[in-house]
Amino acid sequence: MDLQHLRPSQEQGVPLYLQLYRRYREAIAAGKLRPGDRVLSVRNLASELTLARGTVEMAYQMLANEGYFVTRGAAGTIISPRLESLAADHAKLSEPTAPASPPLHAISSEVLPFQLGLPALDAFPRKTWSRLAGRTMRSLQTTAMTYPDPAGYEPLRRAIATYLGISRGIACSPEQVFVTTGYLGALELVCHALLKTGDLGWYEDPGYILARQFLERTGMRLEPVPVDEEGLNVATGQRRAPHARFAVVTPTHQSPLGVALSLPRRLELLEWANHRQAWIIEDDYDSEFRYHGRPLPALKSLDRDGRVLYTGTFSKVLFPGLRLAYLVVPVSQIGQFRDAVNHRSGSGSILPQAMVADFMEQGHFGRHLRKMRALYATRRGYLVDALKQEMGEHLYIQPQAGGIHVLAHLRTEQDDRALAKAAQTSGLAVHALSDWQMCNSSQGGLLMGFANFATAEEARASVQRLKTVLAKC
Ligand SMILES: Cc1ncc(COP(=O)(O)O)c(C=O)c1O
Repeated sequence: MDLQHLRPSQEQGVPLYLQLYRRYREAIAAGKLRPGDRVLSVRNLASELTLARGTVEMAYQMLANEGYFVTRGAAGTIISPRLESLAADHAKLSEPTAPASPPLHAISSEVLPFQLGLPALDAFPRKTWSRLAGRTMRSLQTTAMTYPDPAGYEPLRRAIATYLGISRGIACSPEQVFVTTGYLGALELVCHALLKTGDLGWYEDPGYILARQFLERTGMRLEPVPVDEEGLNVATGQRRAPHARFAVVTPTHQSPLGVALSLPRRLELLEWANHRQAWIIEDDYDSEFRYHGRPLPALKSLDRDGRVLYTGTFSKVLFPGLRLAYLVVPVSQIGQFRDAVNHRSGSGSILPQAMVADFMEQGHFGRHLRKMRALYATRRGYLVDALKQEMGEHLYIQPQAGGIHVLAHLRTEQDDRALAKAAQTSGLAVHALSDWQMCNSSQGGLLMGFANFATAEEARASVQRLKTVLAKC
């Protein structure tokens, strides 16, 4: 192939390595490079195109990570033979999926290094799942094939109620459980059933960015309430917005700082909500994964006055593609929520719901959680060790008792947004802490997922890439 096809031009604002990466993908798509073809070594290509070796290295690494290149040790690097079956599908390859800079808040459908919010997809028990799928289809009652209950599939609601009683200290009946399409589906239902446009709510600062954007777009007004080492600062919330109608909290494992809401603060929050007749939305998104100490009971387990709306999700414990979450409402609100779901689009297909119900009832869920807890403790170690060894002088890792992400604070005054943007442009899905903050703070940091680092080497290689990117900023 004529090497000039690979030569980057002066495309405005597009880094050279990214141009080179794209040229390779285009050459493969156009058949100029065939599966099995040898690729010029980094040194030779850099010298042929008069590029820095680091530039070529970065492009090659992205192509290898995405499966276009395969390294064969001393035999050099070749175009992956696995692309043979894809080569015909020209459109698929020639349409470059923005490899870099996924829009900051978008949930990427690619599994990029450091991707936040994803469980370990390689460790999902696919065999058990497929066996259940066949059995679920075969044994589906005719009644279950008609229009489903918009509150969710009853056996799943029952399984969730049992699980919450045992694992989260929540005493609830299946009638209190509403199955939703993800956490945002639960929030949407709460807004519809209990709130109205313009209602004011406390929101943790920093806090989960997607829910914040969702609530703002739904017309809610949000009062930022700071989070410290004891979690949400309830006294500040009461001072700033005593009449708020609701508060959204992540008490078990604050998102993203990872602290737990202390018992005195929990009681203060419940007392405020009861006194003001406000609602507390408890987002218990990843409480199953705790590596030190005992799992904390949910805030809902202390709710004597029926002010807490509890939400959980299957996105972390199974996989986000299921789009299954749930909401537990106070007994006094069952009628209100029943009425709300009866006039909405429902909880989606019953097939995944039936499978998850079977998965839980047959004990697979408990086994899966135990296995994943151990796996995440190991994978967290891979990332933390690599960060400490490679970037310890630049980053300080916030100790966290659980979860599937790491927060590394910057030791310098660097702008975390610029760093995260540069990393994203290189295909590394780190987030800037500042983007999760509502009020400006001097404390910058990087948020990184670790669940999909299968080996210590993988974690180290990605951290080294991050280090290279950050060194250039
Ligand atoms: C803080 C927080 N809450 C809830 C969720 C779950 O959202 P969903 O059920 O829509 O996947 C996530 C997912 O990343 C999260 O980070």
